[in-house]
Amino acid sequence: MFDFLKPTLNPAAALLKEDHDRVKELFDQFESAKSPAKKLKIVRQALEELKVHAAIEEEIFYPAVRKPVGKEIMNEADEEHHVAKLLIAELDTMDGSESHFDAKFLVLSENVRHHIDEEESEMLPKANKVKVDFEALAEKMRQRKERLLEEGVAPVGEDRMVEASRGRGDSPAQAAKRKPPRLPRKE
Ligand SMILES: [Fe+2]
Repeated sequence: MFDFLKPTLNPAAALLKEDHDRVKELFDQFESAKSPAKKLKIVRQALEELKVHAAIEEEIFYPAVRKPVGKEIMNEADEEHHVAKLLIAELDTMDGSESHFDAKFLVLSENVRHHIDEEESEMLPKANKVKVDFEALAEKMRQRKERLLEEGVAPVGEDRMVEASRGRGDSPAQAAKRKPPRLPRKE
C-alpha cells in the first residue's frame, strides 16, 4: 500500500532490491518447509543467490557509492557481509543432517533481513544522490551476475577461515565448545 509514495529506485538499486525480494521469499519458504530434503534444497539455492549478490555489491556497487554514502554505513554493511559469509561458508560444508543446520540458516536469514532493511532504508536512498550513470552501473552488475551464475563464485576469505578452523560437521562454534581454552591455574 502507498507504494506510489516510495522514492523511485535507480536501475542499480532496483536490481539489488529484486535480489533482496527473491532471497526473502526463500527465507519464508524455509520457515514453512517441513521435510529436510526441501529445507536443504532451499538452503542451497539461498546460498548461491547470496554469494552472487554479495560479490556484485562488493565488487561493483559498494565501491561506486562508498564515498557519498559515508564510512559509517558502508563499514557496517561490510561487517554484516563478513558475518553472513562466515555462516554461508559453514552452511556450505553441511548436508542438513547436523543438529545446528536449521538454527544456523535461521540466524543467517535474520542477519540478512536486518542487512537488507538497512540497505533499503539508509544506503540505497543515500546512494540515489551519487553522481553516477546508474544505467551503466546496472548493466555492469547484470553482466557480472550472469558470469558468476555461469562460473560460480570463487572461494572467499571466510571459506578459508572456516576451513582452517577446527570445526567438524556442525561448526567451528561447536568445536570451540568441545575444547574450552585453558584457564589460568589458581595460585
Ligand atoms: Fe548487501
